Formats: sequence, C-alpha cells, structure tokens
Amino acid sequence: MSLSLSINGEQHEITCDPTTPLAYVLRNALKLKGTKIGCGLEQCGACAVLVDGEVALSCSAAVEQFVGKEIVTIEGVGATEIGARVQDAFVAETAAQCGYCTSGLVVAATALISDGRGTDRAETVEALDQHLCRCGSHPRVLRAIERAAKAS
Ligand code: FES
Repeated sequence: MSLSLSINGEQHEITCDPTTPLAYVLRNALKLKGTKIGCGLEQCGACAVLVDGEVALSCSAAVEQFVGKEIVTIEGVGATEIGARVQDAFVAETAAQCGYCTSGLVVAATALISDGRGTDRAETVEALDQHLCRCGSHPRVLRAIERAAKAS
C-alpha cells in the first residue's frame, strides 16, 4: 500500500504494510536512524517523535495512523528555535551518556518547553517519567532542560 507522510517538513511517499510501526518506516524505509527502538512496547520513550507538536511513541503505532499529520523526528527538531536550544543545552550539560534515550528526550523536552514548561523540576520529572535512561544521566538531562527553558 502507498502512503504519504509529512516528515520534518517534507512529503514522503512510502510503499509498505500500513500496519508497520512508524519507527520501522522512519529507520528502514527513510533511513532516519535517529529515532531509536528500545522496548518496542511503548514503555521506554526511546522512539518518541513529535506528531502535530505533541510527543508520540512510534514503536508500536501503525504508520497509517500518521497520514495527514506533521511528524518531526530528531533529525528535524533542531530546525525550530526551541528544538535547537534544547540540543545546544544537552551538549552544554553533556546530557547524553550512551545516547540511546537522547533522541526521545530531546524531542520530549522540545514539546515541554514549547508548551511553556521546563523550569519546574518536579513537573518536568513527571512529564518525562516514561523516558528511561539506563546510564543514569537524569540529573544532567534535567539541567539541560532547565537551561533550555530559561534561555528564552
Ligand atoms: Fe517505543 Fe520503547 S521503543 S517506547
């Protein structure tokens, strides 16, 4: 089946099984490898992307659900002022350890700050609760988000 997807501001025509999870289409068909697949069960946050400006997990949801929506992946998030600020802050705070969770966290932080949040640590912890980091980089991630949120 042929599907049309808007990803990072570009329209892509994809031929695939429409029940294929979005993350597999991004990584395998479009070679957008920044979106990671961790658990594959919507439980770790590694596969987060933005869909119409909201955080969405892409490892299980069928690609057909994303037709007609604006998808932004880690490859495109830096094109926005806030996304670029979040990326800079992650670098400044060395907030990536192994880096596997980083794409999902940067995407989620961008959505959070775009929503006018990110300065209240307790609120940020709750908002990012689904994002797991096995390396324990959470303190640096939180500092990076606060740095980006305060830089406006
Ligand atoms: Fe999607 Fe873990 S890979 S939530």
